[in-house]
Formats: sequence, C-alpha cells, structure tokens
Amino acid sequence: MREDTQDAVNRVDQARLWQRLMRMAEIGAIPGNSVNRAAFSREDVEARKVLISWARARGFAVAADAIGNLFVRRAGTDPHAAPVMTGSHMDSQPRGGRFDGIYGVLAGLEALEAIDEAGASTRHPIEVVAWSNEEGGRFAPCTMGSAVHTRARALDDVLAVTDNEGIALGHALAETLASTPAVDTRELNAPAAAYIEAHIEQGPLLEQEDKTIGVVTGIQGLRWFNVEVFGETAHAGTTPVGGRKDALRDSIAAINALHALTKDDTDTVRFTIGRMLVIPNSPNSVASHVLFSVDVRHPDPATIARLGEAVEPAVRNAAQHCTVKVTPTLHDDPCAFDPGVVDCIERAAQALKLPHRRMPSGASHDAMYMARVCPTAMIFVPCERGISHNEAENAKPEDLAAGARVLTAALLELANR
Ligand code: GLV
Ligand code: MN
Ligand code: MN
Repeated sequence: MREDTQDAVNRVDQARLWQRLMRMAEIGAIPGNSVNRAAFSREDVEARKVLISWARARGFAVAADAIGNLFVRRAGTDPHAAPVMTGSHMDSQPRGGRFDGIYGVLAGLEALEAIDEAGASTRHPIEVVAWSNEEGGRFAPCTMGSAVHTRARALDDVLAVTDNEGIALGHALAETLASTPAVDTRELNAPAAAYIEAHIEQGPLLEQEDKTIGVVTGIQGLRWFNVEVFGETAHAGTTPVGGRKDALRDSIAAINALHALTKDDTDTVRFTIGRMLVIPNSPNSVASHVLFSVDVRHPDPATIARLGEAVEPAVRNAAQHCTVKVTPTLHDDPCAFDPGVVDCIERAAQALKLPHRRMPSGASHDAMYMARVCPTAMIFVPCERGISHNEAENAKPEDLAAGARVLTAALLELANR
C-alpha cells in the first residue's frame, strides 16, 4: 500500500464516525433505538443541514441536483477528471435502523476527511453523495434519486407520486430544497469515473462466518408493482355477500394467488406485500378500493423475468368480482458489478488484513443505477444477526470503521488512476 494511502487509512477515526452516526440517529428518533426519517420530510431536511455543515467545516464544496441528491466534493488535481464517487442514502424506513444508508454517507465523509487530513492529493475529485429517497417507504419506488440522476427514470415521471397522505413528491421536494441552505447546482447524469457504496450487509453471512468485509459482486433483480382493485362500497349488515364487489376480498384472493406463484422450495424467491391502502377502511362498509404493493426479487434473470410477467395475469385471474389495474413501478434486472472495482476493494481488504468474502446483495442499492453509468461495486460490513428494516438493526463501531478504511484505500487507488 502506498505511504499516503496508509497515512489516510490510519486517520479514519472510529470515534468520530460513531459519534456522527449517533448524531444522525437523533434525527427522526422513535422509540426502540429506531429512526423514521422519510424522504423529503422535516427530518430529512435536518439531516441534510447537518451533513452540509460537516462538509463545509472541512471546506468541501456542496452541490444538489434537481431531485435533491447532495454531492460533497474534495477537489482533485486534474480539472478535467470526473469524480470518483461514494455514498448512500439518509432517508430511512418508517421504522428503520440507525445504519441502513446513513452509514455509507458517513463512511464516505470519514474517508474524505481522513484523505484530507493526510494531505493526499488525488488526480480525480472524490465526491460523497447522499441519494434522495432510496427507501421508497414514503414515495414509491425505491432508489429514486439515483434512478433520476442517471436518467434511468425521468424527473417528470416521479413528481406526481403521492404518499399515503396524498402529498405529491414534487411539493415535498420543493419544500425540502427551499428549507436547505443554498448549495451549488449539479446537473443530472454528470460524468462519474467510478462509484463505491458502503452499507451494512442486512443479512447474516458476514457475522456467521466471522468476516469483517463483504466484497459485493452484484445485486439481485427486482420488480415492483402497484395493484389497485376497484369494487363498490356497501352496507356490511344489509348487502347480501353473494352480490358484493368487495375490493378487499378480491385483493386477498389476488395475494394468495401471488403467494402460490412465487412459492419456491429453495427459498430463493423473495416476495413481499408490504403496503396496503383500503378505502373507506371502515369495519361496517365493504371496501370499494384497495391499493397494495408487490415486491418480488430473484438473482436469476430468466426467473425474475418469468415472475414479473406472471404478476398481472395472476391478479386478474384471482379478482373475480372487481376490476383491477396493475402498474409496474420498478423493473431492475440483476446487476453484476465491475470486476475491476470488485478487485480493487478486495485488494484493499487484503492489504488491511481484514477477513473478507465475495458475496451478492439481496437488498437493492443506488449502486445498481450507478453501475449502469460507471464502474461500480460495494463494500458490506456485518450487522447483528442480519437484522435490518427493523428497530433492532445494529452494527459494531469497529466493523463500521474497518469498512471506512477499506473504502478510503479503494477510493485513493481509483482516484489516482
Ligand atoms: C432497499 O431498502 C431495498 O428495498 O432493497
Ligand atoms: Mn440502504
Ligand atoms: Mn433500506
């Protein structure tokens, strides 16, 4: 390892990284060590302010693009070189943990500070990005900030998406940008030289195998749909059951059909209905309208394609009394990361003598979209019992710091190419 790289790695400060994680965990804290920091909420604005203040305290430039992604930049020596990027997201699930997403942003900032303290110059600028609305818990679908930034999704197509209260994303985004300190403007799809995202594993393998670093080779495919079932409301006491157009009853039939479709003896298919809205949602009225989400994932391209195609026919066939509308909201094919960036992360883990293994990701990440526009890979660190999207999500300060050290070394190698 080069001397200046070793110096920067040594300056990664485990206590500073942990304190910052705990500071961010105060924003949107809810009982049980949990956070609720929905995209474009008041809590999201506060997290943005804190990140901007930390970046500016070190003299790093900050910019935002049209979907509110934030970019923190340490300049390079070549004015024409595109940035080497790292980062993740600051929004959380409604009952999310203290590490999902925010770890990748703060590990990136820690790497940038360590590199700065070591006085290491790099040919490429290095940028930390905080992607908007990665979780999709408030505004579906997930990984929206990176999809819009890389032009995989048009900005205009997401502005009208509404949350459960009927608030449009465009409105919440405008309020967020207006409430955040003024920063430079970053155009969408600006060139990037490479991207590395650090994240907790959100699964049990690293902990089970006593490994500190996961060298992530790719992400499984996923499909999201909104299914709407339209029936007719009626009096629960007087309307004969036989003649009803009960949207909830047909939804349950549809969900059972989807469970049968995705049944898999190897337990590789991931199938989830996680969101359901029922109108009028009253015990003594037949439901007139139901909306539910479908999330289905698989690592094999042919299998996820087959399952994705089968969702709408299965729902239509099962909903016998109502009309249905099935809207695909996310279509991500399985993605393989760049072998050169994967090797670079593995070399860094080896040089730092950290136990590591290659592994795929079951969860989706913004790295999936960055992989379409530049060489990309990810670093995983263990989390307790693999628990995530749950209040009990936990990770060890020393593992989080180890991931930031690997990130620092890998960023320096890529930024000096
Ligand atoms: C991201 O949180 C995902 O749904 O995988
Ligand atoms: Mn995440
Ligand atoms: Mn998540």
